[in-house]
Amino acid sequence: MKRIVVLISGQGSNLDAIVRASEAEDWPGRVVAVISNRADAGGLQRARAHGIATEVLDHKAFADRAAFDAALAGVIDAHSPDLVVLAGFMRILTPEFVARYEGRMLNVHPSLLPAFTGLHTHRRAIEQGCKVAGATVHFVCAELDHGPVVAQAVVPVLAGDDETTLAKRVLAAEHVLYPRAVGWFVKGELRLQDGRVTHLGGEPQGWFA
Ligand code: GRF
Repeated sequence: MKRIVVLISGQGSNLDAIVRASEAEDWPGRVVAVISNRADAGGLQRARAHGIATEVLDHKAFADRAAFDAALAGVIDAHSPDLVVLAGFMRILTPEFVARYEGRMLNVHPSLLPAFTGLHTHRRAIEQGCKVAGATVHFVCAELDHGPVVAQAVVPVLAGDDETTLAKRVLAAEHVLYPRAVGWFVKGELRLQDGRVTHLGGEPQGWFA
């Protein structure tokens, strides 16, 4: 069984979708631990409801980013993960941390990367008059919200959309996209070569949700 460690900061709806898919589809992998940098993250409750070990590591208790990331790596590695999944983990990571998990750390970002890295992606997409938006799952590299793209889902931006309605549509797409991508990884179906990701079985890696 491949061991997945999930990092969260918030409600953990993507975490929940991944755990459910791993069980329903009987993946050769399971989420073995959920780590949050916030004690009040709703996703911790969700993890406990699934019987998954949880840990809280408050970044405010550390002198700097490097100290927090070093401690975080220690907590993660205690669970011997094959894959680290960032699911709404709202921290910028040091290059050392990223290098440690190179090729085995995934993130979901609520935009069609490389457009709209960073925060407020939905507001910015609406302001720019975009007609489509979406979500991207990518391997994590040192540059924020960059890295080899594993899969993308596209949703329409509808007339009358505001940040809230668009965010809801994109999040629903993430709940399909992210479990699919994580499932591919744990089944050994992805190849990462020269900064590009291919699905060995030819599964479509981009689609309209
Ligand atoms: C998602 O929109 C994700 O793309 C972003 O933060 C949100 C996390 O949602 N990085 P949840 O905690 O998985 O519900």
